[in-house]
Amino acid sequence: MCGIVGYIGNKQAYPILIKGLQRLEYRGYDSAGIALLNDDKLNVYKAKGKVSDLVRFAEQQNINGTVGIAHTRWATHGEPNTVNAHPHYSQSEELALIHNGIIENYAVLKEGLKEHGYTFYSQTDTEVLIQLIEYVKKSNNIDLSTAVQLALNQVVGAYAIAVIEKGRPDVIVAARKGSPLVVGIGEDEFFLASDATPIVEYTDKVVYIGEEEIVTLERGKSLKIKTIGNVEKNHEVMKLEMTLSQLEKGGYPHFMIKEIFEQPKTLSDSMRGRVNIDENNITLAGFIDNKEKFLNAKRIIITACGTSWHAGLIGKYAIEEFARIPVEVEYSSEFRYRKPVINCDDVVIAISQSGETADTLAAVELAKSNGAFIFGICNVVGSSIPRNTHSGCYTHAGPEIGVASTKAFTAQVTVLTMLAMMIGKEKGTLDNEKYLKVVSELGKIPEKMSLILKQDNVIAEFAKTFTYAQNFIYLGRGYNFPVALEGALKLKEISYIHAEGYPAAEMKHGPIALISHEMPVVVIAPSAGMYEKVVSNIQEIKARKGKIISIVTEGDVVVSNLSDYIISIPDTEECLVPLLAAIPLQLLAYHIAVVKGCDVDQPRNLAKSVTVE
Ligand code: G6P
Repeated sequence: MCGIVGYIGNKQAYPILIKGLQRLEYRGYDSAGIALLNDDKLNVYKAKGKVSDLVRFAEQQNINGTVGIAHTRWATHGEPNTVNAHPHYSQSEELALIHNGIIENYAVLKEGLKEHGYTFYSQTDTEVLIQLIEYVKKSNNIDLSTAVQLALNQVVGAYAIAVIEKGRPDVIVAARKGSPLVVGIGEDEFFLASDATPIVEYTDKVVYIGEEEIVTLERGKSLKIKTIGNVEKNHEVMKLEMTLSQLEKGGYPHFMIKEIFEQPKTLSDSMRGRVNIDENNITLAGFIDNKEKFLNAKRIIITACGTSWHAGLIGKYAIEEFARIPVEVEYSSEFRYRKPVINCDDVVIAISQSGETADTLAAVELAKSNGAFIFGICNVVGSSIPRNTHSGCYTHAGPEIGVASTKAFTAQVTVLTMLAMMIGKEKGTLDNEKYLKVVSELGKIPEKMSLILKQDNVIAEFAKTFTYAQNFIYLGRGYNFPVALEGALKLKEISYIHAEGYPAAEMKHGPIALISHEMPVVVIAPSAGMYEKVVSNIQEIKARKGKIISIVTEGDVVVSNLSDYIISIPDTEECLVPLLAAIPLQLLAYHIAVVKGCDVDQPRNLAKSVTVE
């Protein structure tokens, strides 16, 4: 996590850096800082809190300079305060560094540097790195880029860094390993950032920095890239597809609600060129190019974290139903360390909105080194996971800024459903009638989502009732069990209400003890699927006076009569219900959080892109 931005050019750096930090604030928001080179001065300003707190402080200072670096932090080492905030000065205050990642061997390096007379003021691993760079630079009397290269050879861990040097207002040196870094190329200027969102406003030409690469951004010169092993590298300039309006709230009070409402469009975008309703066909290029891998797979392993893991669970239901291939769904953080059995005839699907999640990236590397075929399902184009997988499929949901994932989730489920259907069709395990029915229904999902979104006011109204709640239970069965997990996650992430998702039938094995007249229970009870079974589960809650909020199919009578609140969704194929049922749950979580006065887009302690373990 943490967001980093840099600028070198002819414009004033401060406004560009601050705007860039605001765009990257989703990556961390507990403290922020900026370093500017102005004449012979290297000024560092830092503040605890959000970028707006930094702005309040920095604007009282000298903010001139056409070169600078800036950082928004999600604390790993040391509490969020001004001392621990980045940029960090070196001992002589001649260098300043920003860092995203973790230096794992920082304690050993620190001890060594102390013996050479270095003093440390913060509790961070980052300060150790800048002192190391300075030590290497001074003791070898070498330039900054070489010092960075030699210092990084001593570092174990993950980093995206940028360093500037007093008296050298013509250079920024940056490097990455495990954490993302993008350079934007403008007219006589360079931009640097953790992702392209701070850059898109100024240029659409970008270069994604590769693993263990060091880049030198030098005024008036072309980009120079070398590896930490000192091998010069060529770079490929890519064109950004992102637009500025995708990064703004567009009249909505929060990014989250904007993104919830975007789903009819993002779903169409996910299916564009892939689902052909007229010809009743689905085409996923990433699948077609590697068809044999899927058709010969003995097993599929899905690896992901958070919301993407929930999408993976829905993918399991669809792949097992349509393609009859056994699927295991793994938390990346467990998978990477638990010595899993991975065979060369396994297909591993890595799902990640950001494409940067450290654990998922490590799971990909592990599976790759064991000979499996890796297929990525990611949203951020050009991010690390798509670049490290054999093939894959972008979700095309557009930039997701709200920390709680919404539109990326439904896009992931859509891609997984399309993939499951393609494998099933090719394998002959999915009969043509069912295939045609699901293709045709997929095409209707965006319109059906729009109908659900019309109930926003109703959901906002009854959300007010639940601000008292300390706990919530979410129940669903089959395809809707993962939706229950996701609904519960949305609520806890943004409203701080404790919420648990369960398979509805599992209730009686423990959670039912929690039911009382104070316990709101959200039940996903569509007519497609195990309706009667869910009805029995609802009866059990009703008998214990739980407050029942049901997601039902339009026209439902039985569950509606048992429920305190109902939200209806249009009828659809069972495997597609999650795409519809997710929406009222997102809206419910959103409105409860808003009524409680929570910071919906930047919930406490969270970050959108988790680039540390
Ligand atoms: C963080 C985010 C979640 C996200 C998870 C996985 O925890 O706050 O919204 O689901 O990371 O992220 P990924 O980018 O890999 O989908």
